[in-house]
Amino acid sequence: MSKRKIIIDTDPGQDDAVAILLALASPDEIELLGITCVAGNVPLDLTAKNARMICELANRTDVPVFAGCDRPLGRNLVTAEHVHGRSGLDGPDLPEPVMELRQPHAVDFIIDTLRSESNGTVTLCPIGPLTNIATAFNNAPDIIDKVHEIVLMGGAYFEVGNITPAAEFNIHVDPHAAKCVFRSGAPITVMPLDVTHKALVTKPRNDAFRSLGTSVGTAVAQMTDFFERYDREKYGSAGAPLHDPCVIAYLLRPDLFSGRHINVEIETTSELTMGMTVADWWRVTDREPNAYFVGDIDADGFFDLLTERLARL
Ligand code: RIB
Ligand code: CA
Repeated sequence: MSKRKIIIDTDPGQDDAVAILLALASPDEIELLGITCVAGNVPLDLTAKNARMICELANRTDVPVFAGCDRPLGRNLVTAEHVHGRSGLDGPDLPEPVMELRQPHAVDFIIDTLRSESNGTVTLCPIGPLTNIATAFNNAPDIIDKVHEIVLMGGAYFEVGNITPAAEFNIHVDPHAAKCVFRSGAPITVMPLDVTHKALVTKPRNDAFRSLGTSVGTAVAQMTDFFERYDREKYGSAGAPLHDPCVIAYLLRPDLFSGRHINVEIETTSELTMGMTVADWWRVTDREPNAYFVGDIDADGFFDLLTERLARL
């Protein structure tokens, strides 16, 4: 498998942190060109701080981290401290970051990278609201054709919403950005709640993280211990759903996942269903398929992969 060049666009978030660690633990398959931060789970200053704390936890201060958009394209920012805690990374007690943010603005880093790398060689991995990606596409439409693939965490169909009855958080925060990305024509693979709610950190799985006996293993166990409260209370889940790491695991082992190539449109007018991903799973419309929408996962295989990789850090 040739190395895949990726940019992770993120709003850390405990599950974002695990996704970043999984990518950093897989240098033979993944070349992480940079981490671009966006406002989402918590405001931008915190997501940009948390991303650097995660790189330092993994001893990878060489990875450039950029700050991006601090609010959605056309709505007020909605954050999720009730899920992730005030810091956005509650659970472990990580030191303040020493590494600096890099210039330029994250949107310009995305544009410059896609223009300078060979066409079709860069994968965008958005695991937060799509504000940075949509802004890059709007500012520089020429880069859309240069994207190899967008593999994103967001949306839901059978699972419906986790922040409103109709919408998943990442899409709900910036539905206009999501509409831009889903209509861009770039190849898209979607990890919706339908699949991420099957990737639950049960106690044995959390114990396996802790048993690694490393600072990374312990921190991940503490993050998922904290992060599971919301889903346990709301859904009665058996553990924290590892939403964002599904994106990186798909790059490493696509065979662990299955889905359908279907049409997905984004609600941007009705306040009642704002940010809903209207996924034509049963192909009842003649709308063109625009996304590979993932519905299932080999959860044991996923956690075996994740735990084995985290042990390398
Ligand atoms: O709905 C789950 C998504 O929202 C994840 O990306 C999580 O980090 C939050 O951003
Ligand atoms: Ca996220």
